[in-house]
Amino acid sequence: MKVLGIYGSPREGGNTDLLLDSVLDGAASAGAMSSRIYVREMNISGCIECGGCDQTGVCVVRDDMQDAYDELIEARVIFLASPVFFYSMTGQVKLFIDRCQALWSRRRIEKTADKRRSRDGGAGYLIMAAAAAGDNLFAGSEVTARYFFATLDKSYGGGLFVTAEEKGDILKKPEELKRAFEFGRDATLRELRPQGGLT
Ligand SMILES: Cc1cc2nc3c(=O)[nH]c(=O)nc-3n(C[C@H](O)[C@H](O)[C@H](O)COP(=O)(O)O)c2cc1C
Repeated sequence: MKVLGIYGSPREGGNTDLLLDSVLDGAASAGAMSSRIYVREMNISGCIECGGCDQTGVCVVRDDMQDAYDELIEARVIFLASPVFFYSMTGQVKLFIDRCQALWSRRRIEKTADKRRSRDGGAGYLIMAAAAAGDNLFAGSEVTARYFFATLDKSYGGGLFVTAEEKGDILKKPEELKRAFEFGRDATLRELRPQGGLT
């Protein structure tokens, strides 16, 4: 089973990178094959709202996003990681998500309104680090993530939210890295054994 990790921080080796590494280690321990997308390495524009995908479900903007679409479609489980920036995801992640308008169009073209009410399968999860603590820090991002995953025909499986500020602060919290490992492992097992649950 394929899982995809989307690294959404501009800071290489930062807290969300380390969290997502642990999540993917956990997924691998349950037998998943992982792919990784580092959004900071991508040269992408935002959606230019040209309507080019309306009838085809294919984005006409030729940039690094073109390599990401197949990865998004093929993954059964997606882990989207971003630090909180101004109570939201990073701008880089938002560009990436907005470019999935093409997949939103594709879903609308290929599925009836009735079929769009249910999900094809698979799940998406949100992983975030923030300097402060508090539920509202993640609320807006969760709404965006839920809608992003729905566009990919996936259910939103939940979030892993951690307090950490300076680069690498998360390393001082091994219990959070352990929680991240278990988060990835359990998300994978839920897909592999949907009826049986976790044992
Ligand atoms: C531009 C910017 C905006 C930020 N906004 C918030 C915020 O609104 N709330 C918060 O708790 N932390 C905020 N932070 C702190 C980061 O979320 C925090 O340092 C996080 O651990 C960074 O993760 P990373 O190492 O994966 O990049 C902000 C940091 C930056 C650089």
